[in-house]
Amino acid sequence: MSVERLGSWTREDGDARAVAVLTDRLGVAADVVRSAPGRVNVIGEHVDYTGGLCLPTALPHRTHVALRRRDDDVVRLVSAQTDETWTAELGDLAPGALSGWGVYVAGVAWALRQAGFTVGGFDAAVDSCVPFGAGLSSSAALEAATAVALVDAFDLDLGSGPGVRNLDDAARAILATACVRAENEIAGANTGGLDQASSLRCVEGAAILLDCRDGAVRPVPFDPLAVGLDLLVIDTRAPHSHVDGEYSARRVATETAAELLGVPDLRAVPFDELDAALARIGDRVIRRRARHCVTEIERVREAVAVLDGGDVAGLGPLMTASHVSLRDDFEVTVPELDTAVDAALAAGALGARMTGGGFGGSAIALVRADEADAVAQAIADAFALRGFAAPAFLTAPPSAPAG
Ligand code: GLA
Repeated sequence: MSVERLGSWTREDGDARAVAVLTDRLGVAADVVRSAPGRVNVIGEHVDYTGGLCLPTALPHRTHVALRRRDDDVVRLVSAQTDETWTAELGDLAPGALSGWGVYVAGVAWALRQAGFTVGGFDAAVDSCVPFGAGLSSSAALEAATAVALVDAFDLDLGSGPGVRNLDDAARAILATACVRAENEIAGANTGGLDQASSLRCVEGAAILLDCRDGAVRPVPFDPLAVGLDLLVIDTRAPHSHVDGEYSARRVATETAAELLGVPDLRAVPFDELDAALARIGDRVIRRRARHCVTEIERVREAVAVLDGGDVAGLGPLMTASHVSLRDDFEVTVPELDTAVDAALAAGALGARMTGGGFGGSAIALVRADEADAVAQAIADAFALRGFAAPAFLTAPPSAPAG
């Protein structure tokens, strides 16, 4: 096919690459090498920060971290994706104190220390096949890979026994919380926690239902290939602009809506009382933002019901309805995302939607497996016709979490 496919490496290849970068660039041998995946969110978008429900899966594409423990508090980082060596003292980390890509790594060590774990300095090297800037959680994959590498390098016991091999879901939830703190407080990105939970707590061969109120996770059957379907991911390569500001504005809008309704979060608004609740919100924009969140949480419930019933195809219309809501009520799509979704549906996809934060990034389409190439081609043609940059594609069988 003439469209570009972004492949994933084998675990072994990715590990070997990271180990080689550590030796080549910092001249040290790795103690441990660990990796963590990017994610796609099947449905449940922009509801993690309002107590909602999300249904993510882990990508086969992973970020690999090779790490060597040091005897001091220095952190030295290199990456195959940049020539720059990032260096800091762990003691200098504090909210707003440092910048650069290394804060996503060192911030995890800072957060684990804040949580009472004994973590010291380290040299580390990163290599990744998670598409960068594609809304597929490359930063969460970096944080999560760092977290599991630190667990092994410092032999941390998060309550289920030392080392990564002993991590249970409760221990993984503790790591996810540390990664969220690294991202919110040290990297300064006000995101909601979906990405870190996905990278650390997803299960291979299924989706997970993530309850963002109590942090509970349960696997939900989702194996498209087993029923002749596939989840096609479309990296639109649309330039991200104003992402942080717009994202924060959406968060604030949902908080304002909850405040106006006198509830702790929008999860607390029952779907069958939505109209009455909306009637109590005077501002048209805030009203639409609230409507997206409440209807999206309901769509996740419906999606779980169809998947629990073994009806993967039944997900299609819910995905498309989710996109329409994100486009019209939440206003986080861009023409490239809308074009990808429209072209996928016109080419026979069962459903399609943007995934992740929006304002660029990726869309997903549920397609018949033997039509994936034709759908990808139709999307690439639609992009060419509109003068957009060429999109890239990958398929996303639900893959393994950080480890
Ligand atoms: C980004 C954020 C997540 C979540 C999604 C939207 O990926 O990092 O916390 O809010 O957007 O669902």
